[in-house]
Amino acid sequence: MNKDIGTIILSEKQISEIIDRIAGEIENDYKDNPPLFIGLLKGSFIFLADLVRKIKMPAEVDFLAASSYGNRTVTSGSVKLGERSYENFIGKDVIIVEDILDSGKTLSAVRERLYSEGVKSIKICTLLDKPYRRMADIKADYLGIEIPDLFVVGYGMDYAEKYRNLPYVGELKAEIYS
Ligand code: IMP
Ligand code: MG
Repeated sequence: MNKDIGTIILSEKQISEIIDRIAGEIENDYKDNPPLFIGLLKGSFIFLADLVRKIKMPAEVDFLAASSYGNRTVTSGSVKLGERSYENFIGKDVIIVEDILDSGKTLSAVRERLYSEGVKSIKICTLLDKPYRRMADIKADYLGIEIPDLFVVGYGMDYAEKYRNLPYVGELKAEIYS
């Protein structure tokens, strides 16, 4: 295990079980009407890749860049969305795929923007939920697990751009960021 990781929050096996379950829930809900999956960069890239490979419908995939953290461990509150064309999203049923829902500011900013760009419906899929510092009225439609109020990395999630390639989710030791 990486020396900067305290405890493992989700093992590779647990992640894979979660993804099987969520993929089943999504297929059940969308049936003959495949959604457009929109992954929020960068944290969701591995989760999204694993999730869509378990979906048997002909779903579309796209990405949006959203960031609020910089190199810190608490949200800065202001969410930056990468500028791009939203034309491909118009009239679609989308599932926003996120790594972790914390204050909720990122997802509510993205949701508001997507609706204003003409998306038909939006559901939220997040691997992890930390409900303790929620500041926006938002909750996940598809959720992996709720976790304690820790700073976690791995499986796409970073601290200062490191640890994204760990295959599991682990708690980052406090001495690394304090
Ligand atoms: P929110 O806007 O506060 O809900 O922030 C959500 C974003 O913050 C997520 O997309 C993550 O990128 C990041 N984030 C929140 N908690 C953690 C964490 O424990 N580790 C890594 N990134 C986190
Ligand atoms: Mg993120």
